[in-house]
Amino acid sequence: MPRILVTGASSGFGRAVAAFFLDRDWEVIATMRTPSGDGLPVSDRLRLLSLDVTDGNSIAAAVAAAGPLDALVNNAGVGMLNVLEGAEINRARELFETNVLGTMAVTRAVMPAMRARRSGVIVNISSSVTLRPLPALSIYSASKAAVGAFTESFALEAAEFGVRARLVLPGSAPETSFGRNAVARMGMDVPEAYGPFVQAVFRSLQSPGEKTQALDVAQAVWRAVTDPAAPMKLPAGADARAWFREAGLDTA
Ligand SMILES: NC(=O)c1ccc[n+]([C@@H]2O[C@H](COP(=O)([O-])OP(=O)(O)OC[C@H]3O[C@@H](n4cnc5c(N)ncnc54)[C@H](OP(=O)(O)O)[C@@H]3O)[C@@H](O)[C@H]2O)c1
Repeated sequence: MPRILVTGASSGFGRAVAAFFLDRDWEVIATMRTPSGDGLPVSDRLRLLSLDVTDGNSIAAAVAAAGPLDALVNNAGVGMLNVLEGAEINRARELFETNVLGTMAVTRAVMPAMRARRSGVIVNISSSVTLRPLPALSIYSASKAAVGAFTESFALEAAEFGVRARLVLPGSAPETSFGRNAVARMGMDVPEAYGPFVQAVFRSLQSPGEKTQALDVAQAVWRAVTDPAAPMKLPAGADARAWFREAGLDTA
């Protein structure tokens, strides 16, 4: 039975990916900072493990406990909605620790076993904000662009050993707790001079239109994992697909 490890599976996309693979007879290792099966289906193919992607000991323990993996999804991430002047640099550092270095560190930890077995797929969750600049997202967008550049370069190394790396770029998904979690962890101290500008940005982000559902992300991850011919970058969600088309990228 194939086995997948998902980071940040306590909510949102990570939880949807875990449920999607469980439903298709995979063994799923759902990892999170504080393990809980809330919102996940009951299954004897589901294992919950504690994993904080910013903690090397936690990564080593989870990867050892997981055993051989066929797939890894680096989904854990945190957002930040603020102008640069409103963002403390220590918060930016914390965000990069999670989104960028966390992805690198977990990838690095699973790679020796995948390389030895000459098989495995690593899927990293980036974002469609890397395709089009938006205000008040500079630090977050930079972190997701870094995940993209890292993955495309790393994929060339991994391919030498039969291991695939792919990127999934979701669009905007207000249904997840992403925005709420971002404000709780990163704050939102917008400098007064930027107040009206940021209010206008919020209104445009909240305007109705095509959005991404967690299921779109689960389907894109499924394709990245199971289809060896999947392109390097996969859109997830109607809005992401529209942005891919604008950028001249493959949406097939
Ligand atoms: N929602 C969107 O609009 C959107 C769009 C494009 C891309 N994305 C990306 O999609 C991914 C999932 O986002 P989401 O919308 O599902 O948001 P979410 O509901 O806030 O989920 C984020 C997950 O990451 C986990 N996490 C945060 N820091 C962690 C750490 N240090 N170690 C391990 N896990 C950690 C959280 O776990 P805790 O419960 O421990 O905090 C949570 O399970 C993120 O990488 C995000 O950047 C989201």
